[in-house]
Amino acid sequence: MPDADLPAVLVCRRLLPAGRDLLLTRCQIREGGLDATPQELVELAPGVAAIVADPTVPVGEALLEAAGEGLRVIANYAVGYDNIDLEACRARGIAVTNTPGVLTNATAELALALTLAAARRITEAEAELRDGRWRGWDPGDRLGLELSGATIGVVGMGRIGRRYAELVAPMAGAILYVSRSGKPDAEIELGATKVPMDELLARSDVVSLHVPASPETSGLIASAELRAMNPHAILINTARGSLVDTEALASALHDRAIGAAGLDVYENEPDVPPSLLDAPRCVLLPHIGSATTRARDAMAVLVAEDVLAVLDGAEPANRVV
Ligand code: NAP
Ligand code: GLV
Repeated sequence: MPDADLPAVLVCRRLLPAGRDLLLTRCQIREGGLDATPQELVELAPGVAAIVADPTVPVGEALLEAAGEGLRVIANYAVGYDNIDLEACRARGIAVTNTPGVLTNATAELALALTLAAARRITEAEAELRDGRWRGWDPGDRLGLELSGATIGVVGMGRIGRRYAELVAPMAGAILYVSRSGKPDAEIELGATKVPMDELLARSDVVSLHVPASPETSGLIASAELRAMNPHAILINTARGSLVDTEALASALHDRAIGAAGLDVYENEPDVPPSLLDAPRCVLLPHIGSATTRARDAMAVLVAEDVLAVLDGAEPANRVV
């Protein structure tokens, strides 16, 4: 079939070759590129049968309308799908898919890395050394939190929260969790205990967030929650920026209301609030939770397989809507 007759897929930003090559066997691709603006995407959208989005691409009425009636699927290159207006897709009969599971290890491992980095103040200690400010071994310098025996609070015992709990379990003294539903497997296998949020905040040495962004989880950790945490405790967020009130977190770090924080996600990425850049004992990463070769390739394959399934009239493996 000549290329012009193949269904068109709008890859809003970038799809790694593991998925892109698969799509190219049966589709033509229009690419926005990493710097594509919403207006540029609207201009590329007319006539496409599928859109590949990612957490940085808001998918709402404007893009759906621009694509037109032939649009059949939005495939999100991510497990979180808070960037997509699900109701608008549902109303138009457009399928939405995501990439669960294949990024669970990568993201949980990054949450563990952030936990260790924040607990032991690794990035600020390294910066001190590189800047030539290190004056030699000091028994009172950069004192941190030992994870051995620590109480770990997991907020959202889903795929990533559960894997994070498994990774920290050999070190942890206790694992507490909050989730919509009870997780008997985690209770039996990891000795985890389901508790109310206020108890988790009061008892934990580490609080790690793994719930999706939603109206219910927006501002989940604000001033009152930070003040309810132990003054030595660490907050880790690899889920979504909207879960945490940024200004309250910066104040809590300045006031020593909590011990440290480790963040991979922000509310208006790629903007990182200056208050966080200036906050002490705060490790900041640029949304790299799933950034391993294995995870990102596997995500790309799921994206392509789900697009092709919908275009074939089959059920996609990872349907959200
Ligand atoms: P998941 O398996 O769906 O887990 C989410 C968990 O949160 C579930 O256990 C769910 O409870 C719980 N939950 C949902 N709403 C809740 C609420 N209002 N209160 C309490 N618990 C609630 O998802 P996942 O694969 O672990 O991914 C979690 C999130 O991580 C994604 O949505 C995404 O935002 C983020 N993420 C970030 C990165 C990164 O690069 N930093 C990478 C991957 C994912 P039930 O089990 O009872 O439904
Ligand atoms: C990344 O943030 C994801 O949700 O997969």
